[in-house]
Amino acid sequence: MDMQDYCDQLSLIVSQLTAAVTNVGLYPPTHPRVAPYIDRTHQSLTTLLEITPQVTLMLINDGIISNNRKLVFSGSTGQVFLRILKKKGVERISFITGLPRSHLEDLIQGLAATDAKKLHSTSCIKLGKVEIADETGGGEGDGDQEDIGLRKKTIDEQIGELLDFREYGMSQMHDLYNAIKQGDRMDVRVIHSIVGEFVRRFRREMNPLSLLAAIKSHDEYTFVHVTNVALLVICQAEALGFSGANLHDIGVAALLHDVGKLIIPENIVAKPGALTSQERGVMEQHAILGAQYLISQKDVPRLALLAALEHHIKFDGTGYPSIPGRWRPHIVCQMITVGDVFDAMRSRRPYRDAMPLPDIIAIMRSSSGTMFNPMLLNFFLQLIER
Ligand SMILES: [Fe+2]
Ligand SMILES: [Fe+2]
Repeated sequence: MDMQDYCDQLSLIVSQLTAAVTNVGLYPPTHPRVAPYIDRTHQSLTTLLEITPQVTLMLINDGIISNNRKLVFSGSTGQVFLRILKKKGVERISFITGLPRSHLEDLIQGLAATDAKKLHSTSCIKLGKVEIADETGGGEGDGDQEDIGLRKKTIDEQIGELLDFREYGMSQMHDLYNAIKQGDRMDVRVIHSIVGEFVRRFRREMNPLSLLAAIKSHDEYTFVHVTNVALLVICQAEALGFSGANLHDIGVAALLHDVGKLIIPENIVAKPGALTSQERGVMEQHAILGAQYLISQKDVPRLALLAALEHHIKFDGTGYPSIPGRWRPHIVCQMITVGDVFDAMRSRRPYRDAMPLPDIIAIMRSSSGTMFNPMLLNFFLQLIER
């Protein structure tokens, strides 16, 4: 089964599940008309779970996502299903192979209930909630931990969800970059929504290294890179005490720092080898071109223009573009430089392997005070090494 068939099959299952929930809500649980809806959904799910051991549906940005694909529905099914899940505070449902009909029936009854009936995870249905419980709320040792709204997620689960979202964010960036390349206007709302989710899902206990998931193939490098840099910069900024709108703008600036590369010819950006000095000159234009491009766009924070322009200017004022006088980049651009260089060295490129972490740390330390702000670098390395 290819990915398209999988998505089509899953869209059908969501439609059956939605029909089951809405119809079950109309009749008492024992009514003879209820059973066929549950049977149909159970049958389809069981068939799919024979091919894949787990099927996960996630509610992201008013869409239903599975395997990083947004499911497509005819009519209003998708909207109805979203409304049902939102009302119950469910953000994520995983169905696991061996799903008994009784578990599915309980879920359907729970989703259909108009009273405050609690939904429970079972061995074959895992439910996730929308809001992560307050650090001080809920609690370990609470006998009701599996209840939606009470269970505190482990840090691993939170990282898993952030990484799932990161995958989705990258596919959004991919589409956005393609649109810009074709000369369309940039839809800044996409950037704001990606950063909004990153910030919302980010937790300070997360180690930055855990946020850099497996490296993708090099032709996707730019999307992976800017997404990684955004996460690394959000880590630093959050740990330094930035919050709210400031933290959001910092994430937007990091996500857009290399937008100028879209204006550079593809054969230079994606060249699988070292650049000639002439090509390097063209490549270095991406800083100024990026800033110029962003000036022409609506609703882009000023910080993003600055980040595009300054992210290759070193702490000691060298680098590019060369600006006369003693020029020190904005503190946020200095943070982007740290994340940018770290991610570039950690990533496999067509012409070299990813570098080992101790080597990266040693190289970065040796550039403290020249390329990097020493205070920011120390701070970042502490986050990495903790
Ligand atoms: Fe760059
Ligand atoms: Fe970069």
